[in-house]
Amino acid sequence: MKRVDDSYDILIGRGLLEEIPARLKKRPVGNKYAIITDSNIRSSYGKKFLALMKRSGLRCCLLSFPAGEKHKTLATVESLQNQMLENGIDRKSAVIALGGGVVGDAAGFAAGTYMRGIPFIQVPTSLLAMVDSSIGGKVGVNLAKGKNSCGLFSQPKMVFSDVSLLKSLPKRELRNGLAEAIKHAVIADKNHFYFIEQNKEKIIGADATTLTELIKRSCEIKAGIVEIDEREQNFRKIVNYGHTVGHAIEVLTKFREFSHGEAIAIGMAAEGRLAVDSRFLTERELYRQNKLLEDFGFNIGLPKIRPEVLVKEMRKDKKAVSGKIQFALPSGIGRMKSVAGNFGLKLNEKDVLKVLRAL
Ligand SMILES: NC(=O)c1ccc[n+]([C@@H]2O[C@H](COP(=O)([O-])OP(=O)(O)OC[C@H]3O[C@@H](n4cnc5c(N)ncnc54)[C@H](O)[C@@H]3O)[C@@H](O)[C@H]2O)c1
Ligand SMILES: [Zn+2]
Repeated sequence: MKRVDDSYDILIGRGLLEEIPARLKKRPVGNKYAIITDSNIRSSYGKKFLALMKRSGLRCCLLSFPAGEKHKTLATVESLQNQMLENGIDRKSAVIALGGGVVGDAAGFAAGTYMRGIPFIQVPTSLLAMVDSSIGGKVGVNLAKGKNSCGLFSQPKMVFSDVSLLKSLPKRELRNGLAEAIKHAVIADKNHFYFIEQNKEKIIGADATTLTELIKRSCEIKAGIVEIDEREQNFRKIVNYGHTVGHAIEVLTKFREFSHGEAIAIGMAAEGRLAVDSRFLTERELYRQNKLLEDFGFNIGLPKIRPEVLVKEMRKDKKAVSGKIQFALPSGIGRMKSVAGNFGLKLNEKDVLKVLRAL
């Protein structure tokens, strides 16, 4: 068992789903559990998990909503909370989010706002959710004009990452999580970067032991960052590496052309180039990062978007401060640059444009 901090445990391993009921019997989180999942997971892991919980004598119900980012909305949360009321979920109950990042974010938000907040447990089923979204306590939904614009900070009581569940995950979704795992290595741990370089084939083949190791280290990195700066005042900004450019690309291509992981892989290559140009990172280090991304099948070339349009979009990002674009940039593999203690770097827009034009 891995205790990351005082508030909750993160368990990672094979066959964990089967163990959850016994653990909850030993250390209950609620008198009754609302298992929340999406329409893809419902009939496979959802029903299986419900049966396991019931067999152990735990009171629970299974709720779901249509899969996909476009359903990560307040309407979904309202519907889930109404169903929670109908099913007798009360102040002493808890939510179990069983699914990818969409389920974790929406169910975590539903729990955090239901009857002014009831506890929740994360059971991530996608690699992205295991290495990233289930850790850190940010939950929320999208508004019509803003991704993740409605939400709160709410830490789960426990996180159970069962790597056996990844067997059914489509390859493109696996790669999505890999982009974030590579990002974690670049921003915080050169040994982990080396581990990923050395285990490419096993990772692509979804080898359970290798994935367990990958997820474990990724979680430690993210949890370690969040422990220092939960509310993203400064240090937590480093997890945004690749996301300033990546997010602008997602918005400008209407979230249709690239998956999130694909967009941030492009973002890391572009922002890595900015770091080289600013003399924080060496050419050789950028090459290593880009090679690793390409070996996993990422296309890291900037799509055909005018650099001026890209910069304008980056200025609108909610992470920009008074219209000034902020970047989190590496100063080596496993290290991030800070200026006067600040990890959100404000570069001269002219320099940014010059670099983007040259890509
Ligand atoms: N809260 C945070 O800190 C944070 C961080 C990063 C991302 N996110 C959010 O996470 C979301 C993306 O998460 P995601 O990539 O997991 O997307 P997702 O939840 O949409 O899952 C991707 C797809 O895979 C399916 N799926 C999940 N697990 C599966 C399995 N084991 N087998 C087969 N299919 C499976 C899902 O049904 C879905 O169709 C975004 O909404 C993003 O904003 C949040
Ligand atoms: Zn991301």
